[in-house]
Amino acid sequence: MKKITIAIDGHSSCGKSTMAKDLAREIGYIYIDSGAMYRAVTYYCLQHDLFTEDGVKLPELQAAMPDIRITFRLNAEGRPETYLNEECIEKEIRGMAVSSRVSLIATIGFVREAMVALQQQMGRDKGIVMDGRDIGTTVFPDAELKIFVTASAEVRAQRRYDELKAKGEDASYESILENVKERDRIDSGRAISPLRKADDAILLDNSAMTIPEQKAWLLEQYQLTLNR
Ligand code: CDP
Repeated sequence: MKKITIAIDGHSSCGKSTMAKDLAREIGYIYIDSGAMYRAVTYYCLQHDLFTEDGVKLPELQAAMPDIRITFRLNAEGRPETYLNEECIEKEIRGMAVSSRVSLIATIGFVREAMVALQQQMGRDKGIVMDGRDIGTTVFPDAELKIFVTASAEVRAQRRYDELKAKGEDASYESILENVKERDRIDSGRAISPLRKADDAILLDNSAMTIPEQKAWLLEQYQLTLNR
């Protein structure tokens, strides 16, 4: 069957990865979480003391880029997990220490260049669902199906809060809401590949949608695209 490229972009914590992952599983495509890659670089910076009081040690990070090897592997339940230099860092990259610094790392030109090159290589053979901020605009501008997802900041913060709580992690709704708004501000305002809807992307506001509704909607978009 014909294989296509599916790009899912949007604001932070609006359920992009849940819908992208579900769709990929359903249609037998590879799923790539591009945000996890920026999170992995952020984790590397934390581990190697590359943050200063108000920024990043850029020359040191640039020199370290060839030593940052990011891969994904499926766990026993078939879920993809992020590895940094052969170490599974899936849990570590979801915490607030990484979340509060990742958007700063994602503004750095040489980091974006390296991540985009890796993402394009992963999607070389199509049959891929990738989610992020610049997938439909920069990584795969020719993707056959592009979705731009959004929801209100409060709904998104509540979802992230519930997700962390369900995992038994410490979380404060207020600090999550602040983080969601701050990341949107940095992601939309940065100079390189800012977060924006590609002209040919379909807009989805899922504030009032359940996960099954969203899943059905996305599957329908995929089928419509295949039949086009
Ligand atoms: O899932 P969540 O919305 O929390 O974020 P994520 O997809 O894990 O991405 C984390 C951060 O990485 C975003 O806030 C962006 O700053 C950055 N990012 C990016 O700049 N470009 C991408 N393609 C993906 C993520």
